[in-house]
Amino acid sequence: MSWRNSNTTWGSLSRVIHWLSAITIISLFALGLWMVDLTYYDSWYRRTPHIHKSIGLLLFFITLFRLMWLWLTIKPAPLQEHTKIEQILAKVTHGILYLLLFSLMLSGYFISTADGRAIEVFNWFEVSAVFPGIEGQEDIAGKIHYTVAISLIVVVSVHALAAIKHHIIDKDNTLKRMLGLS
Ligand code: HEM
Repeated sequence: MSWRNSNTTWGSLSRVIHWLSAITIISLFALGLWMVDLTYYDSWYRRTPHIHKSIGLLLFFITLFRLMWLWLTIKPAPLQEHTKIEQILAKVTHGILYLLLFSLMLSGYFISTADGRAIEVFNWFEVSAVFPGIEGQEDIAGKIHYTVAISLIVVVSVHALAAIKHHIIDKDNTLKRMLGLS
């Protein structure tokens, strides 16, 4: 099986990025929910935001690479079993997923840089604060981040249910070709 996409299936590079991103996004969501309930005296109080921000920024770079890769390579053609409506719905859903992902990462960046400090990515490198000090920046970005995170999980659930429906009810290759089984 090739690392590049073909006209009929996803290559291993696209598949690895898809599943790695999916696991990361779901883990960051769980971590974020847990993190906001920690108290100052908890030993994870400082460490968790550092991990959440570092992984979030790495995901941002991986997502940029993913879009560049999609643009450089071909995308498998829709399966013949899919109706025109299903093809349009899938395209729109994928577009919404990317839009929500970037809104989530951007709002996270605005929360973390509101005080003018750069974000340390696992102490490997820093991403500086480009727009600090906007009035109410942390609160506004925080509300957007929370709303977008919930919306993303809702859309991801619909997306995953659609893939499972194709696999179990329609018995087509939609999920299999994203798992490298077809
Ligand atoms: C956070 C979680 C997820 C995100 C953000 C996500 C995003 C995407 C995106 C953007 C695509 C279009 C291809 C691309 O641009 O790479 C895609 C394709 C796909 N995803 Fe997901 N996905 C997630 C989780 C899942 C899960 C849990 C499943 C299955 C249970 C799944 C099944 C699929 C399948 C089968 C395709 C291929 C669709 C086709 O060939 O038309 N995804 N996903």
